[in-house]
Amino acid sequence: MCGIIGYIGKDKALPVLLDGLRRMEYRGYDSAGVALLDEGKTTVVKRQGKIVNLAVALKEHPPAGHLGIGHTRWATHGVPNELNAHPHQAGRITIVHNGIIENYAELKAELKAKHHRTFLSDTDTEVLAHLIAVERDTTKSLEAAVLAALLQVEGTFGVLVLDDQEPGKLVAARRGSPLLLGISADAIYLASDATAVIGHTDRVVYLDDDEIAVCTPGKYDIIDFEAQARQHEEHKIELELGAIEKAGYDHFLLKEIMEQPRTIADILRGRLDLEAGTSRLGGLSDPQIYHDITRFLTIGCGTAYYAGLLGQYLLERLTGLPVDIEFASEFRYREPIVDGRALGLIITQSGETADTLASLRELKRRDIRTFGLVNVIGSSVAREVDGGMYLHAGPEISVASTKAFTAQVIGHLLVGLQIGRGRQLPITEGQAVVKALQALPAQVQSILDQRVHIQKLAKKFARHKNVMYLGRDTLYPVALEAALKLKEISYIHAEAYASGEMKHGPVALIDPDLLVIFFNPKNSLYDKTRSNLEEVRARGGRLLLVGTEGDESLKAFSEDIIYIPDSSPYTQPILANIPMQLFAYYVAVERGTDVDQPRNLAKSVTVE
Ligand code: G6P
Repeated sequence: MCGIIGYIGKDKALPVLLDGLRRMEYRGYDSAGVALLDEGKTTVVKRQGKIVNLAVALKEHPPAGHLGIGHTRWATHGVPNELNAHPHQAGRITIVHNGIIENYAELKAELKAKHHRTFLSDTDTEVLAHLIAVERDTTKSLEAAVLAALLQVEGTFGVLVLDDQEPGKLVAARRGSPLLLGISADAIYLASDATAVIGHTDRVVYLDDDEIAVCTPGKYDIIDFEAQARQHEEHKIELELGAIEKAGYDHFLLKEIMEQPRTIADILRGRLDLEAGTSRLGGLSDPQIYHDITRFLTIGCGTAYYAGLLGQYLLERLTGLPVDIEFASEFRYREPIVDGRALGLIITQSGETADTLASLRELKRRDIRTFGLVNVIGSSVAREVDGGMYLHAGPEISVASTKAFTAQVIGHLLVGLQIGRGRQLPITEGQAVVKALQALPAQVQSILDQRVHIQKLAKKFARHKNVMYLGRDTLYPVALEAALKLKEISYIHAEAYASGEMKHGPVALIDPDLLVIFFNPKNSLYDKTRSNLEEVRARGGRLLLVGTEGDESLKAFSEDIIYIPDSSPYTQPILANIPMQLFAYYVAVERGTDVDQPRNLAKSVTVE
């Protein structure tokens, strides 16, 4: 979703802003803009559409200045046009804003009636700009005006503010929308996403909710909403610029699919103990936890939710404990009955998804212990959970999640191993899971090596209008995730069902125009699943099969088969998903969609 960048320092601000905006493009946006403050005057340039439009507009008369802010907007209030794009101005004040001002309509009415303010856009952000401008008339500093304004606001914000009459200062504030400060000797960078500051500095400070940062070149002060000074620890970000580049691939998505053997090795590194048949996670090192908890409650959105759904099968088998799972958007308002001894598992790539974060806070309010499976280091969820493990998948730039899903599922296996071994899981079974995990990088590589075959299948089926994925047991969540991937990036209508459910409705859809992607690898339900396969064939369904290497019997059903290596039941679903990622990718390329930034989607959904 929206991206924010700010710069105050000795260098020219414009290249830093444009570069930062480009690096955050992956988050999804529909307009972009910058504002630069120079010699007491702020110049705003904004454009609808991609950053390249903005860059063209800036080329002829690039605004000067060593202080500036920039924004990529994903429309919430008002259509995605130039007028509604950020930055927004109100007299001497210029701002960019992520989040939603919920009481903006009331505030706008008051600003019109009492202060005779006029508005150019439909946005909630312009209302905030005016509110700060009004407060600036009666306060002695920009930060005081920002504080006074934000105290009247309901909703969420990550906001950067410039004041024409305080040209050496950049003020930032946060509630519920991520913001970090990148610190170097003579500059401060502000960004909603660490990718925007990599290469400029590796020193960062994460702003907490209800905090304001007052920045001057190379220096910053943080205050809370009672105007009290706050101290923050500086963190070192380990990311390198290469991690956010395409490395020769046509798309980030392909790069992220292809790098999974390495990211799997990274999540496992130092965490497996073959001899004891267990994993070693620092966040679960207290042995009491194995006996204290009575169940798991998993929360996530989108792909993270499907990883949790697959995790439900895996965790229950490994730990003998029941697992409940819920969409974060449902959980947060449902007033659910939660067992006080549940362990809340928070699954999130970004660590910033608004519903997931709100659900985490709801669990904490109820004194439920929480554990995060989070990819983005230093993200809000990572900082607020009681314990957790980082997924170490590296930056996931493409909007559609691939390597993070794989890492989230492996995360469940690691959690399940450690808690399971602390409870009832026999050592031999634990050792078998450890071995299966150790074998994964090479097995995944062997599937990636089949990409030419998968690409041919994608070409063959790319024009289908409807696709149904069927899988059973652990392959049911894989079917859901595979269908989501296809929808997200190719815009083909795709559904997924547990194959045993097929005869309860979806079977009515089967005809030669429907592509059915069917998971039937060798496992304990192989024969039962086979009868579902017969049912599809009997109705003339077009089949693409995913089976186990060496299973020649599948050829009787279809000539279109993708084989995956024989594996443990715990890792089979991970392997079965990999060719589906490639399939969705190549279908999307064939159809010419915007693979890395599919229409209407956002990487990190920081609003409800
Ligand atoms: C968005 C993304 C999905 C992602 C979901 C949850 O919808 O487009 O790819 O699965 O948010 O994101 P999270 O960062 O919490 O895993």
